[in-house]
Amino acid sequence: MEKLLAVLGNPIGHSMSPVMLNDVIKVNNIEAYYLPFHVKNDDLPAAIRGLRAIGVLGFNVTIPHKTAIIPLLDEVDKLALSIGAVNTVVNENGRLIGYNTDGYGFLKGLNAYITSLSDKKVLVIGAGGAARAIYFTMAKMKPLAIDIANRTIGKAEELIAACPFDTSSKALSLVEAGDQLAEYDVIIQTTMIGMHPKIEEIPISLEHLNQQSLVCDIIYNPLETQFLKEAREKGATIQNGIDMFVYQGALAFEKWTGIFPDVNRMRENVLLQLGGVKC
Ligand code: ATR
Repeated sequence: MEKLLAVLGNPIGHSMSPVMLNDVIKVNNIEAYYLPFHVKNDDLPAAIRGLRAIGVLGFNVTIPHKTAIIPLLDEVDKLALSIGAVNTVVNENGRLIGYNTDGYGFLKGLNAYITSLSDKKVLVIGAGGAARAIYFTMAKMKPLAIDIANRTIGKAEELIAACPFDTSSKALSLVEAGDQLAEYDVIIQTTMIGMHPKIEEIPISLEHLNQQSLVCDIIYNPLETQFLKEAREKGATIQNGIDMFVYQGALAFEKWTGIFPDVNRMRENVLLQLGGVKC
Protein backbone atom coordinates (compact mmCIF):
# COMPACT_ATOMS: atom_id res chain seq x y z
CA MET A 1 0.00 0.00 0.00
CA GLU A 2 1.27 3.50 -0.88
CA LYS A 3 2.62 5.55 2.02
CA LEU A 4 2.16 9.27 2.48
CA LEU A 5 4.90 11.89 2.29
CA ALA A 6 3.88 15.53 2.63
CA VAL A 7 4.86 19.16 2.88
CA LEU A 8 3.04 21.50 5.27
CA GLY A 9 3.07 25.25 4.74
CA ASN A 10 0.98 28.41 4.77
CA PRO A 11 0.79 29.24 1.88
CA ILE A 12 1.89 26.11 0.02
CA GLY A 13 0.64 26.50 -3.56
CA HIS A 14 4.00 27.83 -4.82
CA SER A 15 6.02 24.86 -3.53
CA MET A 16 8.09 23.05 -6.17
CA SER A 17 8.80 20.14 -3.82
CA PRO A 18 5.78 17.95 -4.79
CA VAL A 19 6.68 17.76 -8.51
CA MET A 20 10.40 17.38 -7.75
CA LEU A 21 9.94 14.66 -5.12
CA ASN A 22 7.11 12.73 -6.78
CA ASP A 23 9.42 12.31 -9.76
CA VAL A 24 12.23 10.80 -7.65
CA ILE A 25 9.69 8.64 -5.79
CA LYS A 26 8.59 7.24 -9.16
CA VAL A 27 12.04 6.62 -10.64
CA ASN A 28 13.18 4.92 -7.43
CA ASN A 29 10.06 2.69 -7.32
CA ILE A 30 9.04 3.87 -3.86
CA GLU A 31 5.41 3.15 -2.96
CA ALA A 32 4.50 6.62 -1.79
CA TYR A 33 2.92 9.93 -2.77
CA TYR A 34 4.24 13.36 -1.76
CA LEU A 35 1.37 15.79 -1.24
CA PRO A 36 1.24 19.51 -0.34
CA PHE A 37 -1.03 20.53 2.56
CA HIS A 38 -2.06 24.10 3.32
CA VAL A 39 -2.07 24.16 7.14
CA LYS A 40 -3.15 27.33 8.95
CA ASN A 41 -0.96 28.27 11.90
CA ASP A 42 -3.55 27.34 14.56
CA ASP A 43 -4.19 24.01 12.84
CA LEU A 44 -0.62 22.74 13.00
CA PRO A 45 -1.08 20.56 16.15
CA ALA A 46 -4.22 18.96 14.64
CA ALA A 47 -2.44 18.36 11.33
CA ILE A 48 0.44 16.60 13.12
CA ARG A 49 -2.03 14.41 15.09
CA GLY A 50 -3.68 13.49 11.79
CA LEU A 51 -0.37 12.63 10.12
CA ARG A 52 0.58 10.46 13.10
CA ALA A 53 -2.79 8.68 13.02
CA ILE A 54 -2.49 7.74 9.37
CA GLY A 55 1.11 6.57 9.75
CA VAL A 56 2.81 9.14 7.53
CA LEU A 57 6.25 8.00 6.28
CA GLY A 58 7.64 11.50 6.77
CA PHE A 59 7.10 15.11 5.80
CA ASN A 60 8.65 18.48 5.12
CA VAL A 61 7.73 21.63 6.97
CA THR A 62 8.04 25.04 5.39
CA ILE A 63 7.27 28.69 6.23
CA PRO A 64 5.82 29.57 8.73
CA HIS A 65 5.83 26.24 10.62
CA LYS A 66 9.55 25.43 10.90
CA THR A 67 9.83 26.58 14.53
CA ALA A 68 6.27 25.91 15.76
CA ILE A 69 6.64 22.23 14.81
CA ILE A 70 9.43 21.59 17.34
CA PRO A 71 7.32 21.03 20.52
CA LEU A 72 4.96 18.78 18.53
CA LEU A 73 7.70 16.22 17.75
CA ASP A 74 9.00 13.32 19.84
CA GLU A 75 12.66 14.10 19.21
CA VAL A 76 14.65 16.78 17.43
CA ASP A 77 18.18 16.36 16.15
CA LYS A 78 20.78 18.48 18.01
CA LEU A 79 21.70 20.72 15.06
CA ALA A 80 18.04 21.39 14.18
CA LEU A 81 17.36 22.22 17.80
CA SER A 82 20.21 24.74 17.93
CA ILE A 83 19.05 26.27 14.63
CA GLY A 84 15.56 26.39 16.12
CA ALA A 85 13.97 25.15 12.90
CA VAL A 86 12.95 21.78 11.48
CA ASN A 87 12.29 21.27 7.77
CA THR A 88 12.22 17.45 7.65
CA VAL A 89 10.38 14.96 9.86
CA VAL A 90 10.87 11.19 9.78
CA ASN A 91 8.35 8.74 11.26
CA GLU A 92 10.45 6.08 12.99
CA ASN A 93 8.06 3.39 14.26
CA GLY A 94 5.50 5.95 15.37
CA ARG A 95 8.03 8.47 16.75
CA LEU A 96 8.30 11.74 14.83
CA ILE A 97 11.92 12.88 14.61
CA GLY A 98 12.81 16.37 13.33
CA TYR A 99 15.88 17.39 11.30
CA ASN A 100 17.10 20.44 9.44
CA THR A 101 18.49 19.69 5.96
CA ASP A 102 18.65 23.34 4.82
CA GLY A 103 22.19 24.02 6.06
CA TYR A 104 23.53 20.64 4.88
CA GLY A 105 21.71 21.20 1.59
CA PHE A 106 23.65 24.42 1.15
CA LEU A 107 26.94 22.72 2.07
CA LYS A 108 26.33 19.82 -0.35
CA GLY A 109 25.73 22.33 -3.14
CA LEU A 110 28.94 24.13 -2.20
CA ASN A 111 30.91 20.87 -2.58
CA ALA A 112 30.85 21.28 -6.36
CA TYR A 113 33.13 24.32 -5.89
CA ILE A 114 34.84 23.85 -2.53
CA THR A 115 35.81 20.61 -0.81
CA SER A 116 37.42 21.91 2.40
CA LEU A 117 36.49 25.00 4.37
CA SER A 118 39.45 24.83 6.76
CA ASP A 119 41.43 27.51 4.88
CA LYS A 120 38.40 29.58 3.79
CA LYS A 121 37.11 32.90 5.07
CA VAL A 122 33.33 33.06 4.73
CA LEU A 123 30.91 36.00 4.83
CA VAL A 124 27.20 35.42 5.46
CA ILE A 125 24.97 38.37 4.54
CA GLY A 126 21.77 38.42 6.62
CA ALA A 127 20.93 37.08 10.08
CA GLY A 128 17.43 35.60 9.61
CA GLY A 129 16.27 31.97 9.65
CA ALA A 130 18.07 30.90 6.48
CA ALA A 131 21.32 32.54 7.62
CA ARG A 132 21.02 30.73 10.96
CA ALA A 133 20.75 27.29 9.33
CA ILE A 134 23.68 27.97 7.00
CA TYR A 135 25.86 29.64 9.65
CA PHE A 136 25.48 26.92 12.29
CA THR A 137 25.96 24.09 9.79
CA MET A 138 29.03 25.74 8.27
CA ALA A 139 30.48 26.61 11.69
CA LYS A 140 30.38 22.89 12.47
CA MET A 141 32.75 22.36 9.50
CA LYS A 142 35.31 24.74 11.06
CA PRO A 143 36.12 27.29 8.35
CA LEU A 144 39.07 29.65 9.01
CA ALA A 145 36.54 32.38 9.85
CA ILE A 146 32.86 33.01 9.24
CA ASP A 147 31.60 36.57 9.66
CA ILE A 148 28.00 37.80 9.61
CA ALA A 149 26.96 41.10 8.03
CA ASN A 150 23.48 42.38 8.69
CA ARG A 151 21.44 45.60 8.39
CA THR A 152 20.67 45.26 12.12
CA ILE A 153 24.09 44.48 13.53
CA GLY A 154 22.63 43.37 16.90
CA LYS A 155 20.97 40.40 15.19
CA ALA A 156 24.32 39.31 13.73
CA GLU A 157 25.82 39.56 17.24
CA GLU A 158 22.97 37.45 18.67
CA LEU A 159 23.48 34.82 15.99
CA ILE A 160 27.20 34.57 16.75
CA ALA A 161 26.51 34.33 20.50
CA ALA A 162 23.96 31.54 19.91
CA CYS A 163 26.25 29.38 17.74
CA PRO A 164 26.92 26.06 19.51
CA PHE A 165 30.20 25.47 17.65
CA ASP A 166 33.56 27.07 18.36
CA THR A 167 34.24 29.49 15.53
CA SER A 168 36.06 32.69 14.66
CA SER A 169 33.25 35.14 13.83
CA LYS A 170 32.67 38.90 13.73
CA ALA A 171 29.42 40.83 13.37
CA LEU A 172 29.65 43.54 10.71
CA SER A 173 27.49 46.28 9.27
CA LEU A 174 26.68 45.95 5.57
CA VAL A 175 29.01 48.88 4.83
CA GLU A 176 31.91 47.37 6.83
CA ALA A 177 31.45 44.04 5.05
CA GLY A 178 31.46 45.83 1.67
CA ASP A 179 34.70 47.63 2.56
CA GLN A 180 36.52 44.41 3.48
CA LEU A 181 34.89 42.18 0.86
CA ALA A 182 38.22 41.31 -0.80
CA GLU A 183 39.15 39.20 2.29
CA TYR A 184 36.44 36.58 1.72
CA ASP A 185 36.75 33.35 -0.25
CA VAL A 186 33.03 32.56 -0.01
CA ILE A 187 30.21 35.14 0.20
CA ILE A 188 26.67 33.93 0.89
CA GLN A 189 23.64 36.20 0.37
CA THR A 190 20.69 35.02 2.50
CA THR A 191 18.32 38.03 2.59
CA MET A 192 15.28 38.45 0.33
CA ILE A 193 16.95 41.36 -1.50
CA GLY A 194 16.97 40.45 -5.17
CA MET A 195 13.65 38.62 -5.04
CA HIS A 196 10.53 40.13 -6.58
CA PRO A 197 9.76 43.08 -6.08
CA LYS A 198 13.33 44.03 -5.07
CA ILE A 199 14.98 42.55 -8.15
CA GLU A 200 17.14 45.61 -8.90
CA GLU A 201 18.59 45.86 -5.37
CA ILE A 202 21.77 44.40 -3.90
CA PRO A 203 22.50 44.09 -0.15
CA ILE A 204 26.13 45.29 -0.19
CA SER A 205 28.50 46.98 -2.59
CA LEU A 206 30.62 44.62 -4.70
CA GLU A 207 33.22 47.27 -5.46
CA HIS A 208 35.94 45.46 -3.49
CA LEU A 209 35.01 41.94 -4.61
CA ASN A 210 37.93 39.59 -5.18
CA GLN A 211 37.69 37.77 -8.56
CA GLN A 212 38.76 34.52 -6.87
CA SER A 213 35.72 34.55 -4.56
CA LEU A 214 32.76 32.25 -4.82
CA VAL A 215 29.58 34.32 -4.53
CA CYS A 216 26.38 32.46 -3.58
CA ASP A 217 22.79 33.64 -3.35
CA ILE A 218 20.17 31.37 -1.79
CA ILE A 219 17.49 32.94 -4.03
CA TYR A 220 16.60 30.85 -7.11
CA ASN A 221 13.76 32.93 -8.52
CA PRO A 222 15.12 34.88 -10.34
CA LEU A 223 17.90 32.42 -11.18
CA GLU A 224 20.39 35.25 -11.34
CA THR A 225 19.81 38.05 -8.83
CA GLN A 226 21.29 41.50 -9.43
CA PHE A 227 23.89 40.56 -6.78
CA LEU A 228 24.99 37.47 -8.73
CA LYS A 229 24.88 39.33 -12.04
CA GLU A 230 27.26 42.03 -10.75
CA ALA A 231 29.52 39.41 -9.14
CA ARG A 232 29.68 37.46 -12.43
CA GLU A 233 30.43 40.64 -14.38
CA LYS A 234 33.33 41.28 -11.99
CA GLY A 235 34.76 37.86 -12.84
CA ALA A 236 33.79 35.92 -9.69
CA THR A 237 32.33 32.40 -9.71
CA ILE A 238 28.62 32.46 -8.82
CA GLN A 239 26.10 29.95 -7.48
CA ASN A 240 22.36 30.50 -7.22
CA GLY A 241 19.94 28.90 -4.72
CA ILE A 242 18.85 25.96 -6.89
CA ASP A 243 21.43 23.58 -5.45
CA MET A 244 20.50 24.34 -1.84
CA PHE A 245 16.84 23.71 -2.65
CA VAL A 246 17.57 20.49 -4.55
CA TYR A 247 19.98 19.11 -1.93
CA GLN A 248 17.74 19.88 1.05
CA GLY A 249 15.05 17.84 -0.75
CA ALA A 250 17.51 15.07 -1.68
CA LEU A 251 18.70 14.79 1.94
CA ALA A 252 15.08 14.63 3.16
CA PHE A 253 14.32 11.89 0.62
CA GLU A 254 17.38 9.97 1.82
CA LYS A 255 16.16 10.20 5.44
CA TRP A 256 12.75 8.78 4.47
CA THR A 257 13.87 6.05 2.07
CA GLY A 258 17.61 5.41 2.60
CA ILE A 259 18.19 6.31 -1.06
CA PHE A 260 20.17 9.38 -2.15
CA PRO A 261 18.41 10.45 -5.35
CA ASP A 262 19.75 11.75 -8.68
CA VAL A 263 20.24 15.46 -7.95
CA ASN A 264 20.89 16.33 -11.61
CA ARG A 265 17.45 15.00 -12.47
CA MET A 266 15.95 16.98 -9.58
CA ARG A 267 17.72 20.16 -10.71
CA GLU A 268 16.39 19.76 -14.28
CA ASN A 269 12.93 19.23 -12.85
CA VAL A 270 13.08 22.45 -10.80
CA LEU A 271 14.41 24.42 -13.77
CA LEU A 272 11.49 23.13 -15.85
CA GLN A 273 9.07 24.25 -13.15
CA LEU A 274 10.71 27.66 -13.16
CA GLY A 275 9.95 27.98 -16.84
CA GLY A 276 12.53 25.90 -18.62
CA VAL A 277 15.39 28.35 -18.09
CA LYS A 278 18.89 26.96 -17.67
CA CYS A 279 21.29 28.16 -14.94
P1 ATR B 1 14.57 34.24 6.41
O1 ATR B 1 13.96 33.37 7.47
O2 ATR B 1 14.08 33.97 5.02
O3 ATR B 1 16.07 34.28 6.49
P2 ATR B 1 14.04 36.62 7.97
O4 ATR B 1 14.22 35.82 9.20
O5 ATR B 1 12.87 37.53 7.87
O6 ATR B 1 13.99 35.71 6.69
O7 ATR B 1 15.40 37.45 7.74
C1 ATR B 1 15.50 38.37 6.75
C2 ATR B 1 16.95 38.89 6.62
O8 ATR B 1 16.98 39.82 5.53
C3 ATR B 1 17.44 39.68 7.84
O9 ATR B 1 18.83 39.51 7.96
C4 ATR B 1 17.09 41.12 7.45
O10 ATR B 1 17.85 42.12 8.09
P3 ATR B 1 17.39 42.71 9.53
O11 ATR B 1 17.81 41.68 10.54
O12 ATR B 1 18.11 43.98 9.66
O13 ATR B 1 15.90 42.87 9.45
C5 ATR B 1 17.43 41.09 5.99
N1 ATR B 1 16.75 42.14 5.24
C6 ATR B 1 15.45 42.18 4.89
N2 ATR B 1 15.17 43.31 4.19
C7 ATR B 1 16.34 44.00 4.10
C8 ATR B 1 16.72 45.23 3.48
N3 ATR B 1 15.84 45.99 2.80
N4 ATR B 1 18.02 45.62 3.57
C9 ATR B 1 18.93 44.86 4.24
N5 ATR B 1 18.63 43.68 4.86
C10 ATR B 1 17.35 43.25 4.77
